[in-house]
Amino acid sequence: MKAQKIIIDTDPGIDDAMAIHQAFADSRLEVVGLTTIFGNVYVEQATRNALWLAEQAAYECSVAGGALTPLVQAMNTPACFVHGEEGFGSLTDIQPSQKPDPRSAHIYLSETIRENSGEIILCPVGPLTNIAKLLDYDPEIVNHVKKLVIMGGAVYVPGNVTSFAEANFWNDPHAADKVLGADWHIDLIGLDVTATIQFPSDVFSQIAKASPRIGGFIYDICEFYIAFYEKIVGKRVCLMHDPAALLAICDRDIFTFQNEPLSVIVEGEEVGNSIVSENMLRRAVSVAVGVDVDAAKKRFMAILAQADTAFDKRVNS
Ligand code: BDR
Ligand code: CA
Repeated sequence: MKAQKIIIDTDPGIDDAMAIHQAFADSRLEVVGLTTIFGNVYVEQATRNALWLAEQAAYECSVAGGALTPLVQAMNTPACFVHGEEGFGSLTDIQPSQKPDPRSAHIYLSETIRENSGEIILCPVGPLTNIAKLLDYDPEIVNHVKKLVIMGGAVYVPGNVTSFAEANFWNDPHAADKVLGADWHIDLIGLDVTATIQFPSDVFSQIAKASPRIGGFIYDICEFYIAFYEKIVGKRVCLMHDPAALLAICDRDIFTFQNEPLSVIVEGEEVGNSIVSENMLRRAVSVAVGVDVDAAKKRFMAILAQADTAFDKRVNS
């Protein structure tokens, strides 16, 4: 079967790094490109980190840098206490040798999606600024994207930054509202499911054993993330936000969905809150409301166990 083409819009970030390596290792996916955004880190760091991850996996794909700041609101400070000073826990000062695509992310997205009309699934796992800019720049793009699988939002559950808001939507609520209001198919993988996918630390030691190069890197950077969650949930676990969105592309059947039109609150105490919209003209979003956590764990581990084999194949081909 032909691999599914995807572009990941990302703010790497520890769980972003896991999701990207998961995508690189999954033979059912072809990662056409990575576009970057501020969020867990500044966008310059996100671009550098994305380039570095692609090099680490010897994976050939474009990397295009995106927006420096949100559409309207002031930029929030990056979440260093969750992902580390530069996005990868205590690892700092990495130096990729490749350069990013000269185009800005929204222009790269418009041109690449049109060149592959109807074939690309766009998977944003950071604030949605680049995707909102894409809609402004090229409104007809809704007819060329196959669908979006987004990590973001908390529809029926509390947020993780405030009691209302999930981090990606909170970091650019105007962009999130614009993207959810556009006429395209969206699968929303938010905290409703990702907060329930809590992998214990031994999952990562097993991945490191199976794939020392890529799994070993994930194991190393994960320690910082696990230490953060230990303080929050009192257990040594990782919440698998961005990897869940990647899983939902090829393993959609392990999730259950509910269709609702959504909007995002853009100011006030509830800023960033994703709510069921009263505007019935909005197209319904498929909101993930349930997930088979054991199946997700088995699938994630099986894919990452193959990461070094996939790397060897690329290097030797
Ligand atoms: C989201 O926010 C970021 O910290 C993670 O990378 C994920 O995309 C979870 O709320
Ligand atoms: Ca992310």
